[in-house]
Amino acid sequence: MLIPISKPYIGDEEKKAVLNVLESGLLAQGRCVADLEERFAELCGVRHAIATSSGTTALHLALLANGVGPGDEVITTPFTFIASANSILFTGAKPIFVDIDEISFNLDPKLVEQVVTSNTKAIMPVHLYGQICDMDALLAIAEDYNLAIIEDACQAVGSTYNGRKAGSFGTGAFSLYATKNIMSAEGGMITTNDDGIAEQCRLLRNHGMRRRYYYDMLAFNYRMTDVHAAIGLAQIDRLPQFTSRRRANAEYYNANINSVITPKSLDGQGHVWHQYTIRVNGGRDRDLAVKHLNESGVGTGIFYPVPAHQHDYMRDIVGDVRLPVAERLSQEVISIPVHPQLSQEDLEKIVAEVNAL
Ligand SMILES: Cc1ncc(COP(=O)(O)O)c(C=O)c1O
Repeated sequence: MLIPISKPYIGDEEKKAVLNVLESGLLAQGRCVADLEERFAELCGVRHAIATSSGTTALHLALLANGVGPGDEVITTPFTFIASANSILFTGAKPIFVDIDEISFNLDPKLVEQVVTSNTKAIMPVHLYGQICDMDALLAIAEDYNLAIIEDACQAVGSTYNGRKAGSFGTGAFSLYATKNIMSAEGGMITTNDDGIAEQCRLLRNHGMRRRYYYDMLAFNYRMTDVHAAIGLAQIDRLPQFTSRRRANAEYYNANINSVITPKSLDGQGHVWHQYTIRVNGGRDRDLAVKHLNESGVGTGIFYPVPAHQHDYMRDIVGDVRLPVAERLSQEVISIPVHPQLSQEDLEKIVAEVNAL
């Protein structure tokens, strides 16, 4: 039996919540979506949360609502899920990739300032694996050059940085995809303190329609259904418990894994451990390590095997850039299960197999 890399928790509350929505007949844009938005805003400590159909659509709308469009540049990391960069392309803007910091896996702020041009409109920090980027440095750059901050917080729900919540530094975008720390099967959320951006996002999500069948602009159907929101509401109650389990699992690994480089929760960070990502380096073969783990019953994930700038279609747009840290780490990383449903027996087995690498 393989210990899976992720395992959505589906309890009685999730099942009952879905059934209640189905029996109510109010399947779309009903009470559950509004309730989830209110709970999410509270969770992130912001004035507004706007539910969407996915993290990808949340990112797209967050960029559009901040005025990002053709001719603009958005600085981001190549070491991320492809939706971060694709959402920039959807707007007609160009992603400008800069390299990452080896320890945090996140954008290196020193490199960000070097690529700011008169076309730069925004910075998109991605809080990878559940740890927030170096926001003091990034906010200072954004202020100096008058840039928007679009946080890709898809992996970082509930995380904090010097006590401040993910999604509260600019316009935040979250994913509620099935494998995330809390989920709604598919779903997304935009967070903001800005009333104007919130209004734009609500309009862009629903055909630009303020009054029924009168349209202000060309826009989308990026709505979340009430069936999905009902699952999200059941999950949001579980977040504190899920996060403390993830933290305890990560601490256990940090204390007991001694064969490979283990990830760090940096000072001031309330890491939520969406992924626990080890590095197999020094010429050791990652494929062999993955093979060993999988054959001995430990599920793994490679997040991500190819940095965003190295896909052919992206290279056609951004050119042949070299980002050595991201390129090297994409060959070294292996994520191992850290989800809340691991038993003590699972943890011991995982540690034993990782230490045998
Ligand atoms: C960093 C990052 N950005 C964006 C997304 C896109 O979210 P979704 O899959 O909900 O569209 C994800 C999740 O899959 C992600 O991990």
